[in-house]
Amino acid sequence: MENTDIVIYLRKKKELVDEALEKYFPDENPFFDVMYYSLGGGKRIRPILAISSYEANGGGDVDTIMPIACGLELIHTYSLIHDDLPAMDDDDLRRGKASAHKKYDEATAILSGDGLFAYAFELFSSGSNLAGERLAVVRAVSEVVGPKGVVYGQVLDMSDNPRPEPKTLRNIHFNKTAKFIAVAIKAGAIMACAPSTRIRELYRAGMYLGMLFQYTDDILDVTGEKDKLGKTPGKDEASGKIVAPAVYGLDGARFRAERYAALANQRFSSLDGDFSMLEKLTDFVLNRTY
Ligand code: IPE
Ligand code: IPE
Ligand code: MG
Ligand code: MG
Ligand code: MG
Repeated sequence: MENTDIVIYLRKKKELVDEALEKYFPDENPFFDVMYYSLGGGKRIRPILAISSYEANGGGDVDTIMPIACGLELIHTYSLIHDDLPAMDDDDLRRGKASAHKKYDEATAILSGDGLFAYAFELFSSGSNLAGERLAVVRAVSEVVGPKGVVYGQVLDMSDNPRPEPKTLRNIHFNKTAKFIAVAIKAGAIMACAPSTRIRELYRAGMYLGMLFQYTDDILDVTGEKDKLGKTPGKDEASGKIVAPAVYGLDGARFRAERYAALANQRFSSLDGDFSMLEKLTDFVLNRTY
């Protein structure tokens, strides 16, 4: 598949996800609009990975995976809102517009995050079929977005790390980003009732893709353009973050990003079945400019 094909694929899937998200944000009360504001403008990589994995594993009804896919995006968005707070990365620009605490205020931003996090689990557990699979998704996701994953990664990211060491970097990337990317792929496989060995293999491949994802995020903070990124580059170095270019240099970080992409694709291609779309997505993440 040509590079343009993956761009079209991503656009189409993003449209589907955006349509579904809109449905999940009715005028229940005015706060739904506040939360919805922060959802606007994301790439939707995690929901797309879930959908792609669901389809590659033979899942036929996209409506089955959609609430799960959207729930993942809600959790991701909550993590971004909190990540941008003055007490954390203190970023005013997110997804090409004012971050939640700038658009509203800090209390509203914190509560938006809380609301999205909780609402995600309502979406995961809704639906009358596949109750066992839904429970497995809830377990898998809750395991990696809390204190054993994203939240812990953010704690490590925030702590005063005296030296940019490979071990620290790996631990931060592993927890704050890779596990969540991997679980998106796992959730798609679970909902398609894939065999457990394949679910495990997909998760492992997803971890490499997740490491790659944070490497390219760190690299883009150095090389990316503000308009394309929709966030302010150059912040990691300014705040002394333990990021890939700080540990390995820009070329070293690029080299390692390529290695993670190769490792992910080795695993995707060795699976029984056609997981070529996940390979294309990996290539996209390696070469992304936003
Ligand atoms: C940014 O994630 C935060 C990281 C974990 C690296 P994305 O690059 O997926 O951000 P959006 O969703 O497209 O805004
Ligand atoms: C954040 O990593 C990862 C999260 C869990 C939100 P970053 O702090 O590098 O993400 P950006 O660069 O602000 O999007
Ligand atoms: Mg951060
Ligand atoms: Mg940040
Ligand atoms: Mg970053």
